[in-house]
Amino acid sequence: MTSRVANRKRVLVTGGAGFLGSHLCERLLAEGAEVVCVDNFYSSTRENIVHLLSNPRFELIRHDVTFPLYIEVDEIYNLACPASPVHYQRDPVQTTKTSVHGAINMLGLAKRVGAKILQASTSEVYGDPEVHPQPESYWGRVNPIGIRSCYDEGKRCAETLFFDYHRQHNLRIKVPRIFNTYGPRMHPNDGRVVSNFIIQALQDAPITIYGTGAQTRSFCYVDDLIEAFVRLMKTGDDVTGPVNLGNPGEFTMLQLAETVIKMTGSRSQLVFLPLPGDDPAQRRPDISMAQSLLDWQPRIQLEQGLEKTIDYFRSLA
Ligand SMILES: NC(=O)c1ccc[n+]([C@@H]2O[C@H](COP(=O)([O-])OP(=O)(O)OC[C@H]3O[C@@H](n4cnc5c(N)ncnc54)[C@H](O)[C@@H]3O)[C@@H](O)[C@H]2O)c1
Repeated sequence: MTSRVANRKRVLVTGGAGFLGSHLCERLLAEGAEVVCVDNFYSSTRENIVHLLSNPRFELIRHDVTFPLYIEVDEIYNLACPASPVHYQRDPVQTTKTSVHGAINMLGLAKRVGAKILQASTSEVYGDPEVHPQPESYWGRVNPIGIRSCYDEGKRCAETLFFDYHRQHNLRIKVPRIFNTYGPRMHPNDGRVVSNFIIQALQDAPITIYGTGAQTRSFCYVDDLIEAFVRLMKTGDDVTGPVNLGNPGEFTMLQLAETVIKMTGSRSQLVFLPLPGDDPAQRRPDISMAQSLLDWQPRIQLEQGLEKTIDYFRSLA
């Protein structure tokens, strides 16, 4: 199925008003696609996509993916789901419903219209891993009853649904497992470490480090991630994933805090608070599969990406 203009794809982005979704919508519009953005604004605002509303190839639908959607599209990027602990723990039952019912509804839609479908999965499917870095073959170590489980288990179940629709109904699926991604339009108060540190630094407020600050994370700049999404969607039907996407450069929380303080010229001090439940000690992607399948690797260095993100948060002040 294509729209009236020959060869113009119609692409649905659920969660399209969110942090990653808004960048993806921009990118798809730049490539000439018609973009249908579906969002219920659970963890975002129209501000993220207001600049796209005047584009005649952009359509916004306020809709909750836990309910079925009837629409004609060629491709679906299923991103709808609150991604930060602050948001996904606010209404954990709704979080699991969004992941699981949302996946069922979007897979049903893909099946009806014969669309290709990509699921934004997550490194959280690995839980608190015993294997570093995590290859896609690692099954994970996830607590099924903890405070993060609504998200982790919801996303694991969504992956199961994707692979069962693929095996049972020959659906064309793509499953990237996204590791920490950051950049402009991250929600300022969602407690993610990059936005937290930048905002605290810009206000010269104490920078809160959980635990000793020795735990590590890897950070991928949003443009690199979106490039990988688009490449993955273009792969042949035999490529399903799961495939890790992220930046393998690993930094401790202390290193990140010190870099942000230096780049913002902040007078902030570090304060140490107890670690929250189920916080993984180390998280780093093994991206060798993405490198060979997609001929891709992150290009933007941490300081480069932080500079753009700091500029964004400065502009909000
Ligand atoms: N940003 C990351 O580092 C990261 C890492 C791993 C996975 N992901 C995944 O990528 C996707 C996008 O994440 P993000 O960082 O842009 O988060 P985000 O919270 O900014 O975006 C999620 C969007 O989904 C919308 N949404 C939530 N529930 C919905 C529902 N029931 N119906 C319709 N819309 C709904 C929200 O309003 C928001 O606009 C999520 O699925 C997330 O799990 C993100």
